[in-house]
Amino acid sequence: MVKRTDSPHRWELIEPHLKPEDHTALDIGSASGFFTAKLADRGMFAIGLEVRNDRVESAVRSWGTRPGLAFMRWSLEPENIAWLPEVDVVLLLTVYHHWCNTFGRPEAEEMLRELGRKTNRLIFEPPGRHDAKFPAVCDSPISADEGIDEYYTSLILRIFDDQVDVTYLGEAEYPSSRYRTDPLFLIDCRAYGSR
Ligand SMILES: C[S@@+](CC[C@H](N)C(=O)[O-])C[C@H]1O[C@@H](n2cnc3c(N)ncnc32)[C@H](O)[C@@H]1O
Repeated sequence: MVKRTDSPHRWELIEPHLKPEDHTALDIGSASGFFTAKLADRGMFAIGLEVRNDRVESAVRSWGTRPGLAFMRWSLEPENIAWLPEVDVVLLLTVYHHWCNTFGRPEAEEMLRELGRKTNRLIFEPPGRHDAKFPAVCDSPISADEGIDEYYTSLILRIFDDQVDVTYLGEAEYPSSRYRTDPLFLIDCRAYGSR
């Protein structure tokens, strides 16, 4: 796995959007556990879910047993995503393309909607425009003059039937290529679903 060195920058983009009343969080596809540990260090009850056992073990080794922090080996799938508990915040950072490739885009979009029913706010990081994974998640190619923020905002609104508010948080540079950046979005789901 390419080691991401952009996580501190991504956290800088995310943290200002967390609120004092946010107490519970899920970090889906938690990998190294960096973001789960950051959430716990804010005093939140934070669980990282990760399908790969080696990554769960490594996250536990890296971050230890600090208060509010747990890592669970779990494969999220269309059949079990409804089992997740309701939480204040969900992080879904560079995981969604796996769902599109594994389950197909219609199922992946339904999984995203199910997360919207589980949380007040979803922090979402899909592939950037130069990422080879971009076509897996998108309706159509992006034109050279279209901003990635506009492009994904339309896509997210289409998936959630216009019942969410979308805020573009910015992009952090991925170290493997100076041309690759992944955009981050805050999806306010409070008007969506049953919470
Ligand atoms: C590209 S990494 C992103 C890690 C972290 N979220 C970040 O952005 O730095 C994607 C992670 O999601 C995990 N993953 C992929 N599909 C998953 C699934 N269906 N359920 C749980 N974890 C999954 C992968 O094993 C991998 O560790």
